[in-house]
Amino acid sequence: MKSSKTKCVGILTAGGDCPGLNAAIRAIAKPAMHEYGMRVIGFLEGFRGLVENRTIHLDDKMVSGIINDGGTILGTSRDKPHKMQMGNKVINMTQAAIDNLNNLHIDCLVCLGGGGTQKNALKLANLGVNVITLPKTIDNDIWGTEISFGYDTATSIATEAIDRLHTTATSHHRIIVCEIMGHNAGWLALSSGIAGGADVILIPEIPYDLNVVAEYLKERRRWGKRFSIIAVAEGALSIEDAANTKEPEPEKEIEEPTEGLDAEPAYQLVQESIASRIARQLQEAVGVEARVTTLGHVQRGGNPTAFDRILSTRLGARTALMLAEGEFNKMVSWKNAHAQPVDLNEVAGKKKLVPPDDPMIRAARMIGTCMGDRL
Ligand code: F6P
Repeated sequence: MKSSKTKCVGILTAGGDCPGLNAAIRAIAKPAMHEYGMRVIGFLEGFRGLVENRTIHLDDKMVSGIINDGGTILGTSRDKPHKMQMGNKVINMTQAAIDNLNNLHIDCLVCLGGGGTQKNALKLANLGVNVITLPKTIDNDIWGTEISFGYDTATSIATEAIDRLHTTATSHHRIIVCEIMGHNAGWLALSSGIAGGADVILIPEIPYDLNVVAEYLKERRRWGKRFSIIAVAEGALSIEDAANTKEPEPEKEIEEPTEGLDAEPAYQLVQESIASRIARQLQEAVGVEARVTTLGHVQRGGNPTAFDRILSTRLGARTALMLAEGEFNKMVSWKNAHAQPVDLNEVAGKKKLVPPDDPMIRAARMIGTCMGDRL
């Protein structure tokens, strides 16, 4: 057994699930146990399990045979320790999280998550907890890493969906607007739109002009193309929406563990989706029947691609090494085809959006794809 600075490691998965989480858990836990003799404890349902001390002992049996499984064997939630809904109150439970880590003698907490998880982990690090994070999200919007696991699988799923939409759109000579996840970033719509050969790709980073899109579709018909596929990111904005969008307010801190804010009601008013709005407007402007497909959580489900399994395995194995060497408070990022630690301070609180000169955008424009801003 090799020597290790970490004797006991805690692992949690937080935020939206995605394919590749189990492959990463396996890749951390196997070397941690077998090479370095660490004890590995999993917290259930993300930071909520940490606060509520709900744990599971991860042994070889638990982490075997899971590389190809979607979801997460630990479960997940969008809860944050410093703002946790407890009954009908929202309470700062950070101290409870720290107490549980101490009572379990955990030397380092490994958090697998997206942008929110990086922020939550940094808050714990600033209070003296040793943390290591891994970047997971289908949105691919985590700062400091070229790619996050889950993104490649979601791209493949959305690409296959666009392929399938092509055959039905062609048969009916329709416009089909396909809504793709990605939160406020356009990576997933852009990559799957390109791979699926979408005619129009609309992403939040390039506000669209509906008149431009309508004109482009009319021109396609003049060329004899009687169908059109539009890949729209769920966060896409028209130029009018973009002009009216306000910066989000900074998060309000809750100081004390005992008193909290009343919880927000857990429902939201359903508004017309961006895809439905665009389909309705284009049907009217172009005079062609339009349909909407919202891919939704299908994009986060099922088995990871080979690429994501390898990415998760390499990031996870690097994490085990960092645990052994006591290299803490870093995110294990992917840069220049290598797993590389990057300071959590440089990552947390930032978002990686698609730059306007991204090579994918340039390539899409060169092959004649309309990005919604110009013909
Ligand atoms: O962050 C991943 C993601 O799938 C986003 O693309 C999407 O906006 C969001 O999560 C959906 O969240 P939930 O699963 O909580 O509805």
